[in-house]
Amino acid sequence: MTRTEVAIIGAGPAGLLLSHLLHQRGIDSVVLEARSREYVEHRQRAGMLEQGTVDVLRASGLGDRMDRVGLVHHGIELRFDRRGHRIDFPSLTGGKSVMVYAQTEIVKDLVARRLADGGAVLFESEAVALEGAESDTPLVRFRPAAAGEGAGGPEQELRCDVIVACDGYHGIGRPTLAALPAAGLRMWARDYPFAWLGVLADVAPSCDELIYARHERGFALHSMRSPSVSRLYLQVPPDADLADWPDERIWDELEARFEVDGDFKLGRGPITEKSITPMRSFVCSPMRHGRLFLAGDAAHIVPPTGAKGLNLAVSDVTLLATALTRWLRGGDPSGVDNYSQAALRRIWRAEHFSYLMTRMLHVDPAADAFDHQLALAQLRYIASSAAAAATIAENYVGLTSV
Ligand code: APR
Ligand code: PHB
Repeated sequence: MTRTEVAIIGAGPAGLLLSHLLHQRGIDSVVLEARSREYVEHRQRAGMLEQGTVDVLRASGLGDRMDRVGLVHHGIELRFDRRGHRIDFPSLTGGKSVMVYAQTEIVKDLVARRLADGGAVLFESEAVALEGAESDTPLVRFRPAAAGEGAGGPEQELRCDVIVACDGYHGIGRPTLAALPAAGLRMWARDYPFAWLGVLADVAPSCDELIYARHERGFALHSMRSPSVSRLYLQVPPDADLADWPDERIWDELEARFEVDGDFKLGRGPITEKSITPMRSFVCSPMRHGRLFLAGDAAHIVPPTGAKGLNLAVSDVTLLATALTRWLRGGDPSGVDNYSQAALRRIWRAEHFSYLMTRMLHVDPAADAFDHQLALAQLRYIASSAAAAATIAENYVGLTSV
């Protein structure tokens, strides 16, 4: 049997950053992760960091590699009606910008730092039960990796003062909370009638800033990972099969959706990774009951059009690190009592923005010509009004007080 102050389930950005922030405040934690280190460090996710996320990473000593290889962006392009329209962040937000730095890189930086600091991150260790949330002695049952054989060894116990489930949308934190009637868990969800096919390609980006395109054939996004690696996405039906999308078809479709009157040439290169991501909005409340807390995707997900998922995970655990420190060290419960409410204000703002961007930029197969014209009218308004553009800009770079 092992003991720690904070048992953290999940070594995604939420769990790893929380463990790091707690360590800096003198609080001990153990991170349990079902998958291997190799797996979590290579799973492709988004990579757009709000100014506030960049500030948190820098302030906690994690900014070095990000500042060396991350790309600062001062705007995005909205492309529709065969034209591009730039949204300039600094002039619309009082000088703010964003950083393109892949989530996989943040996870690598965090894992390296936790291990260098002597932190306990147990890979291939799956939490199977979270018990005692309503007691003063919570407990996590987990199955550690048997030496050299991957997960599945005999069950062990981790005793702790607090459990934080940072175990993503499919984890056990939320179902555990939902099963406690006194928690009174409520959930809100919205599914979308489309998915994203994402590719990583060894080709220089064909643009300096991200392009979000609405085309009658559907949405497309041009993003990037480095000066020689592009990240691109296409709207596809939710039941799309990768087998139907050979590389040539992907490039042809991207080319058609990015086409403009004027100069634009989409560079093609070898595709090194391909995947399909479903789109969903989801929120649950409260994010805490007794000694069990939820953070990141465990509590909420957004469609990726607003680039908010990672940023919300970072803001949840930033709030939680401070709140837990006050509680565990100073006996002051005000921060943990307020955690759910404070986190959810920001989460709902991001949910609304992500929903708005998604509806405005995608073509709903069930929509009619009227809906299509409404979406175009909204895009034209953003392209022609500084007030409308400022709404997009301030939400995109991140609203810290809502
Ligand atoms: N035991 C241990 N680990 C678990 C368990 C379990 N029972 N269930 C899930 N996990 C692990 C998963 O393997 C995963 O590595 O929890 C981790 C959750 O990590 P993420 O899904 O990355 O979630 P989070 O840290 O909240 O990060 C949110 O990820 O999906 C994106 O857009 C989202 O960028 C955002 C970020
Ligand atoms: C990405 O680079 O993967 C990315 C960027 C912006 C988004 C979504 C994904 O809105």
